[in-house]
Amino acid sequence: MKDSASNELSFRTVVVTKKDQVAEGVFRFELRDEAARALPAFTAGAHLTVRVPSGANRNYSLCNDPAETDRYVIAVKRDAAGRGGSVSMADEVAEGDRIDVSEPHNEFGLSERARSFVFVAGGIGITPILSMMRHLKATSGPRFKLYYVSRSPQTTAFLDELSSAEWKPHVVIHHDHGELANAFDFWPVFEKPGSGAHIYCCGPRALMDSVRDMTGHWPTGTVHFESFGVDQSRAAENTPFNIRLERTGRSFQIPKDRSILEILRDNGIRAPSSCESGTCGSCRTTLCAGEADHRDMVLGDDEKRDHIMICVSRAKSQELVLDL
Ligand code: FES
Repeated sequence: MKDSASNELSFRTVVVTKKDQVAEGVFRFELRDEAARALPAFTAGAHLTVRVPSGANRNYSLCNDPAETDRYVIAVKRDAAGRGGSVSMADEVAEGDRIDVSEPHNEFGLSERARSFVFVAGGIGITPILSMMRHLKATSGPRFKLYYVSRSPQTTAFLDELSSAEWKPHVVIHHDHGELANAFDFWPVFEKPGSGAHIYCCGPRALMDSVRDMTGHWPTGTVHFESFGVDQSRAAENTPFNIRLERTGRSFQIPKDRSILEILRDNGIRAPSSCESGTCGSCRTTLCAGEADHRDMVLGDDEKRDHIMICVSRAKSQELVLDL
């Protein structure tokens, strides 16, 4: 999950009307308006920014049917190795508490042109996809199939529901038990792009990378990703570097634990952004000089030399010069 630009969001207070555990370390929260009024509508794949008790803002996908206007449902995986937001949610939020949430926002919406959908979910990445599946089922939308990979049955959120007769024809569940040798073989799924088919993938970076690698031959715009987690797996490689803004000549140092986008924002420089996890494309910036360390899911190989996604990517050279 990411820090959000809270100054650009408006928050409302909601009540936690239900909290339960849906898998090992995964907690579901039902949120309703304090006065039982209808909540702002959302579309399948949308997320909320939640101000967690520790004070941080984190994004969580809605997993209920978008037709429900009386509640939001999110699920949070308690990640003890994360930056503390999910632990704060899991440990400090109880039924009856009030928390602040943003209006729903969607960077991962279902394409209206799709004739069918292939969903790929890894772990807690199931949440936006569950909302999509509920929507498609309720509206008799295009056909879909979910491939849901996780470590074990105990860690698989919504396993009972997704194993039920209602979902069975649409769902393949695979547990890899943490072994590469047991990884699900997606190639037969992606080898032949279906006419009008769109892929939606949400999960850990390694899963998204492998889906991207296997779908390079799919038509442009048919493969969609959502991560909601700045990939922390490469954080240990981070080193500080400098940026220089070509248009103003201003320079900044980017410490190893901050992004370019965050440092620009700290210094009052506005740059477009949304997901802040390298998947939506909003923060694409022209790179005038220097060599980037690309960590996004957006740029194609032919764009990497002169573009950078400043929410996640870093530098291989000592300095990057940006067209800002
Ligand atoms: S803000 Fe979405 S890719 Fe950077």
